[in-house]
Amino acid sequence: MDNVAFGKTGLQVSRLGFGAAPIGYLKTDRERVGKILNLLLDEGVNVIDTAASYEGSEEEIARAVGHRRDEFVLISKCGGKVPQAQGEAWSAELIRNTVDAALRRLQTDRIDVMLLHSCDLTTLKKGEALGALVEAREAGKIGFAGYSGDNEAAAWAAGHKDVAVIETSVNLVDQINIDLVLPEARKHNVGVLAKRPIANSAWRGLEAFSSFYPHYVKPYWERFQGLRLTPHDLGFQSEQDWAEIALRFTLAQPGVHTAIIGTTNPDNARANIAAANKGPLPAEAVKTIRDAFKHAAAEGWPGLT
Ligand SMILES: NC(=O)c1ccc[n+]([C@@H]2O[C@H](COP(=O)([O-])OP(=O)(O)OC[C@H]3O[C@@H](n4cnc5c(N)ncnc54)[C@H](OP(=O)(O)O)[C@@H]3O)[C@@H](O)[C@H]2O)c1
Repeated sequence: MDNVAFGKTGLQVSRLGFGAAPIGYLKTDRERVGKILNLLLDEGVNVIDTAASYEGSEEEIARAVGHRRDEFVLISKCGGKVPQAQGEAWSAELIRNTVDAALRRLQTDRIDVMLLHSCDLTTLKKGEALGALVEAREAGKIGFAGYSGDNEAAAWAAGHKDVAVIETSVNLVDQINIDLVLPEARKHNVGVLAKRPIANSAWRGLEAFSSFYPHYVKPYWERFQGLRLTPHDLGFQSEQDWAEIALRFTLAQPGVHTAIIGTTNPDNARANIAAANKGPLPAEAVKTIRDAFKHAAAEGWPGLT
């Protein structure tokens, strides 16, 4: 697995990373989480992204790979109201409490990167939330501060002196941040995690998703229909190739360092490693997908959180 410099952080990150939202929200069983995380680390994936709100995921990560803590860059997110954390959403009090709770739940003495979990631009500009992360950084509890979100808020955050890392949606049906956020991130040498990097595998159709996921995936599924693309248009043979196409499209975007795919399935984790190892999608296929998006999004499709 190729590693790249993670912006100005001095860290090296693998091009494929792991996103813990599905294992948290879907309460994936412990043995399965252990299998997925250990096989990813064995193959050189060294990025794990979690959040206080991905219920139980921090604890499961600690149980599964806490003993391999030196092998991965640990990213978490905070700021929104979560059970058992005192304080108003986006207040310094709540952020302090959530950082301390995350250190306990993750059973570690350091979180490499802590991101504000998608507050709006007005809240971001107020400065209290970001200030609390700076305080945590100065206390040695986190390595770097950053922001996870989309559109104008992410672009603004990418230019802020205290922001070293941005997490933003980049995928074949969510391309606004490619033009709005990635140029700012490159200009300021900010580390970039592409979230929802394979568009939640929306090509599988809404019936493939359980619990709250159909509601969450629906806009992507609708956009995917709107692209009117087939794998054949992109030099691929089969519908089975969509995951590879989607991941390699995201990895082809200048400024994206790592694509954090969420999965509850060890076979998909292995397939994603193989796809990432093939490198970015060829320029011609990237252009076809960019053109299809511009055509379909003529009315404007914002980046989705
Ligand atoms: N606001 C925020 O900060 C925010 C928002 C969204 C996401 N995130 C972060 O970004 C991460 C990634 O986003 P995401 O998990 O929502 O979406 P994603 O990574 O684009 O897609 C995850 C979905 O794709 C499926 N999948 C994975 N590999 C596959 C493969 N090879 N073939 C077919 N299907 C495959 C997974 O199902 P299986 O379980 O069946 O593999 C899962 O349903 C999250 O986990 C989270 O860490 C942050």
